[in-house]
Amino acid sequence: MAIFAANFKCNLTRAQTKAYIAELEAYLSRRMGVDSNGADCKADLTRDSKERAEVFVFPNQAALLENAYTFVRVGAQNAHCVENGGFTGEIGAQQLREFGIDSILIGHSERRTIFGESQAYIAQKFAYFAKAGFRIIYCIGEDLAVRQSGGVEAFLRAEFEGINAQYENLIVAYEPIWAIGTGVSAGLEDIERTHKFLRSFLSVPLLYGGSVNEKNAGEIMRLANVDGVLVGSASLEVARFCEIISII
Ligand code: PGA
Repeated sequence: MAIFAANFKCNLTRAQTKAYIAELEAYLSRRMGVDSNGADCKADLTRDSKERAEVFVFPNQAALLENAYTFVRVGAQNAHCVENGGFTGEIGAQQLREFGIDSILIGHSERRTIFGESQAYIAQKFAYFAKAGFRIIYCIGEDLAVRQSGGVEAFLRAEFEGINAQYENLIVAYEPIWAIGTGVSAGLEDIERTHKFLRSFLSVPLLYGGSVNEKNAGEIMRLANVDGVLVGSASLEVARFCEIISII
């Protein structure tokens, strides 16, 4: 199984997101037919097949769309851990349910660093959405100072404080902060070493994120213990994201 997730962050309008997903669906549905070598690749991309590729799109909050596509699963970039209530600027489970949303990103470094989400709050969110049965893509990753000090493993371990790493609907995304949005992905050796470490205590799918693009996705996906990629900038153009998916 390979997992491809597009994180639009604060980009693209609702209309653009609609057009994007329509094109992505069309691409995936073509892939459901016969590939250029004449092979039937149906099993690869069926959403419910065991050997499926799972394709997620996390649109901006204002561009959430009904999670009712055949191949693409629409998820939420963020939500507060509440059904509804007095939480100005937030969305809760009630709003997500209206769109049939059942996947969410939790712990993204931009939420942690720019919006000050603490590990305790993130753990609270995790518990809430796990209880609701959501597919959780839980993001972790160190900054450059931690990497240079050699404390990566202890840092990543600490990002599991209060998190049920055995949660059955969990996907973990390792995204070194110094590689996010910089155009410079982590080196293959770094990714491999870190994913091996994560695999030593996690049995869930492991994604890599941080400047993944159509040129480096193939070599990253081929690394041991890499089950997929979480893509920001390079996912904003549907043709580029399709090219990334085309590696399987
Ligand atoms: P990037 O973002 O691909 O632009 O580095 C990845 C992410 O933040 O999920």
